[in-house]
Amino acid sequence: MYSTILMLHHYIAFIAILLLAYATINGAIGASSEKVFEESHRKINVFALISCHTMLLLGLILLAVSPIAEVAFADMGAAMKDSVLRKAVVEHPFTNIIAVVLATIGNAKSKKAIGNGRKFKVSMIFFGLALVLILSRLPFEKLF
Ligand code: HEM
Ligand code: HEM
Repeated sequence: MYSTILMLHHYIAFIAILLLAYATINGAIGASSEKVFEESHRKINVFALISCHTMLLLGLILLAVSPIAEVAFADMGAAMKDSVLRKAVVEHPFTNIIAVVLATIGNAKSKKAIGNGRKFKVSMIFFGLALVLILSRLPFEKLF
């Protein structure tokens, strides 16, 4: 169970990061041009959102089943002093939950926003912020 969830969380990470980057760049290009926000643009945002929600679900399961989390939760005081444990069990999950919330808000707001430029701008800002947050606490050393 643990190894399967970890593997999924590992490989879907690439997909989520690429889709977030795509949604951000797409938003930036649209915001600086006269493009019409079409169904295809909305779909890019929804796919980025779905990949983020999937990562959230897998991440929450990891917090429950990961041996690292078990060690950390057994003595939270000691875990907070250990930079490796703190990053894996506190900083990475906490930052990424905020990032997923931002992506969710971005998707909803881009649907409701009025005007093409506004839809693109909202997408750029929220998906971009989510991406920056994720990259700030990504365990690159485990990813490659
Ligand atoms: C811990 C797990 C999850 C939580 C807490 C969660 C939470 C949410 C919330 C609050 C919304 C509402 C957004 C809105 O009102 O616009 C939402 C929408 C959505 N979620 Fe999740 N979600 C989770 C897992 C997933 C998973 C695993 C998938 C797909 C594989 C998924 C796909 C979607 C989709 C497609 C939408 C609708 C987007 C839209 O209306 O444009 N979610 N989710
Ligand atoms: C899109 C957002 C996210 C990305 C790109 C991401 C990426 C990663 C990567 C690359 C790893 C290392 C995997 C490995 O060792 O092979 C990891 C580990 C982990 N992630 Fe995430 N993650 C995200 C969101 C989350 C969230 C929202 C949570 C918790 C709610 C979470 C919890 C964890 C935990 C607990 C580990 C450590 C698991 C272990 O080593 O046993 N992640 N994540």
